[in-house]
Amino acid sequence: MYEQVSHSLLNAILDDLKPEIRRQDLRHFYTRLGANFYAIYSLFFTLYGQRQDFKSQMLRLVETMAEGYIKRSAELEGVDIERERDHNWFLSQKWVGMALYATGFAENLSGLIDKSAYFQELGINLVHIMPILKCPADKSDGGYAVSDFRQIDDRLGNLDDMRRVAAEFRKREILLVLDIVLNHTSEEHEWARKAACGERKYQDYYYVYDNRDIPDMFEQSMPEVFPETDPGNFTWNADMQKWVMTVFHDYQWDLNYANPEVFIEMLDVILFWANQGADVLRLDAVAFLWKKIGTACQNERNAHLLLQLLKDCCQVSAPGVLFIAEAIVAPVEVIKYFGEDAIVAKECEIAYNATLMALLWDGVATRNARLLYQGVKNLPAKLERATWLNYVRCHDDIGFGFDDNDIRAAGYDPFAHRQFLLDYFSGQFADSPARGMIFMRNEITRDARICGSLASLAGLESALEAGDAPRIAEAVARIRLLHGVTLSFGGIPLLYNGDALGVVNDYSYRNDPAKSGDSRWIHRPRINWERAELRKKQGTMEFTLFRAIRKMIAIRKEVSAFADFNNREIVEVDNEHLLFFIRYNHQRPSERVLVIANFDAGRQYLDLDAIGNRGVNFHSRFIDLISGVTPAQSGRRIMLEGYGIYWLSEI
Ligand code: GLC
Ligand code: GLC
Repeated sequence: MYEQVSHSLLNAILDDLKPEIRRQDLRHFYTRLGANFYAIYSLFFTLYGQRQDFKSQMLRLVETMAEGYIKRSAELEGVDIERERDHNWFLSQKWVGMALYATGFAENLSGLIDKSAYFQELGINLVHIMPILKCPADKSDGGYAVSDFRQIDDRLGNLDDMRRVAAEFRKREILLVLDIVLNHTSEEHEWARKAACGERKYQDYYYVYDNRDIPDMFEQSMPEVFPETDPGNFTWNADMQKWVMTVFHDYQWDLNYANPEVFIEMLDVILFWANQGADVLRLDAVAFLWKKIGTACQNERNAHLLLQLLKDCCQVSAPGVLFIAEAIVAPVEVIKYFGEDAIVAKECEIAYNATLMALLWDGVATRNARLLYQGVKNLPAKLERATWLNYVRCHDDIGFGFDDNDIRAAGYDPFAHRQFLLDYFSGQFADSPARGMIFMRNEITRDARICGSLASLAGLESALEAGDAPRIAEAVARIRLLHGVTLSFGGIPLLYNGDALGVVNDYSYRNDPAKSGDSRWIHRPRINWERAELRKKQGTMEFTLFRAIRKMIAIRKEVSAFADFNNREIVEVDNEHLLFFIRYNHQRPSERVLVIANFDAGRQYLDLDAIGNRGVNFHSRFIDLISGVTPAQSGRRIMLEGYGIYWLSEI
């Protein structure tokens, strides 16, 4: 957009650029800056326009973008241009991801390179390597307490190793996903140390207060993330003799984005990692970026403006790089991280689908799809060029953050139902095969979350321990069912390290003082590769599970109806145990795949005539793409075995 004020400012900025920047060939940069400048200026002005130094900060912002562009390699710039041409590239069904800790999957980053054939064996072509940056050994929050945004943790390797990982992935056509921990730093980060020593400039990078007046006002409306281990949102710092905001652990200091210098520093970090070859950046804890007294300090409008600004700036310097929003918040709020009041995504192109994840676990516990149906039906529509990250487990706990109205519509009382789920997954509910743990019980609200690996929550650990073959088979079928939904739902499926091998809870964290206070470590396993060899040995649990998942992954990639173009229709069915949705090929809508998932342990039927009465008509001949056979039918009723899933194509 052409607008005089911003245009004359842009001209002034270009005149003022450092000579070393002006000497470069900046053709592509200027075109993109011209296209995005009005948006960048408007957002930066809304956030920081009241400041005396606005213009010099704006100059610094443009310089940061220019420097980021100049440092981008010719190879990566080629990737940018290719992706600009094919801008829906990531909506394709061909992407299948996995998240892992480098030290859990292998020994370190070079070990990960050695093992990367495993990704191709399984069909994984997008890998999220969990935090790799320098952090304190004992107060690390699993790498999310960063003490240097540009240095690799010694235990993992160094920057050269990371570059080799990026090169290896590019060779194997695997997308690299890295974390950007935007919301906070470790107390050992240089900025925090300087702040603690009394440097005013760096105290202004954080929320620092002399006394409890303002912290107390904040506390009136701020919830707690880790109420058991880290109650309260502020920590007294004795060196500084001041209170500092620490929403997560007491050693994670929240960055203050009301200060434009913080914004520019973090944009620089983003461009740094984009230039190391990351294809996708996972922006951590984005819901928390803006703090305002009197609010929950989550999902604030300015948090969205910050993300839009980051996106606009990144598009100028490294347009091929995508953002993932890690916002584990209510469905109506999550959807805003694609961008508000927009048609095409303008904040993050990808967002964690925590709603689907929690709903799937509800299906496991209740053996029906009542709430799952409500939740999926009410999932707000996405913008164009936006997609979900669909997952069953990740490195974090599971929160049952469904919409209360959906719970009621499914016929339950919200409070009682959540307590049931907590009991079920912590194994306290009679007959529950799950082996999970309660995480962060809030004694006042009774709210809590659940930890545990996919296999253990799905009953595999208890079945293996009992040596009970039918129960083992049942647990494997449950795991297959859950992945069968995420692989066909629409979006990028993200498996978690160990999922395809049936890796159960790892209790060893209890003996490590740096981990014992945080039960999320129970589901952050180290892969035993000798044991993993069993995936090649017929007759083992590992063989059955691995092959089942590998097969579904391979088939997904061939089905164009599984690409994500808002081409899913959820259908209400009479049988409460079944989840039923239809996926269409967005270019040829007559080409469709029917996904039917049975959450019950027993055999169930889907009555096609009953659906036909609601206006969705099918031919009566189908083939299940997963098994390659025609499903058992009695008349117009399709039969599914317990925990069965079909991907049906009409023939
Ligand atoms: C994110 C991470 C989580 C971490 C938190 C604080 O939610 O996924 O593991 O504890 O941010 O950084
Ligand atoms: C909270 C946060 C989420 C984080 C989690 C860590 O749920 O919203 O971002 O991953 O805590 O336990």
